[in-house]
Amino acid sequence: MSNLTLENVTYTYKNAKKAAVSGVSCTFEEGKVYAIVGPSGSGKSTLLSLLAGLDLPTDGVVAFDGDSLAGLNLDRYRRESISMIFQAFHLFPLLTVMENVCFPMELCGVMPKDAKPRAQALLEGVGITKEQMNRFPSKLSGGERQRVAIARSLASSAKIILGDEPTGNLDGANTQNIIEILCSLAHDKGYCVIIVTHDLEVADAADVALRMRDGQLRDGLIDKSRF
Ligand SMILES: Nc1ncnc2c1ncn2[C@@H]1O[C@H](COP(=O)(O)OP(=O)(O)OP(=O)(O)O)[C@@H](O)[C@H]1O
Ligand SMILES: [Mg+2]
Repeated sequence: MSNLTLENVTYTYKNAKKAAVSGVSCTFEEGKVYAIVGPSGSGKSTLLSLLAGLDLPTDGVVAFDGDSLAGLNLDRYRRESISMIFQAFHLFPLLTVMENVCFPMELCGVMPKDAKPRAQALLEGVGITKEQMNRFPSKLSGGERQRVAIARSLASSAKIILGDEPTGNLDGANTQNIIEILCSLAHDKGYCVIIVTHDLEVADAADVALRMRDGQLRDGLIDKSRF
């Protein structure tokens, strides 16, 4: 069973007086949706960067399937095992919406003729129309861009999805749709979904809600799948 484990993980930014993440231990398992909530500056995005292997902990160990990320090829880990939905969407401005979703698949060796129908299905799944698929990201609303970023992250075959406020720009109906997509990926297809959110609707739909404060995961966890 694939999982991500944090053992007493601390991360301090260069020149910072205080650790952004401080002594965090936690296990994230496949098949579950995790929500991390907490005030601004409490260390949520930093924690996601550590899980994504974008940064290595100053102290402690982040392990994927028992192997410390410090000993892995991190480019490969990020490409094959992690898909990220960023707080800022990071869409490629000079590619159309369709090309944005096809691009990561083609990087992983999917033929363009196979990538296109899959991208179309993913984009339709998040409510993007065929006409919008041919536009550049700058010609979409914030919420539409966010949904394209979600479709693009789902295009990769990575089984761990890390989302930083993935529903931050969405209305209620679109939020509900994204929650359903993410829950079904976890529950039906065994993905591990970890979402940082201020949205209580998202936290409530997650299997496990974690609370972050001052760099620490506080209040333990509420694991609804155990009830
Ligand atoms: N590159 C950086 N260099 C120095 N300090 C940083 C850097 N990035 C973040 N921090 C600090 O680390 C702490 C945690 O930041 P982080 O971005 O993880 O918070 P967050 O919980 O994601 O907040 P938000 O909800 O506002 O996105 C904050 O005190 C922040 O100022
Ligand atoms: Mg953040």
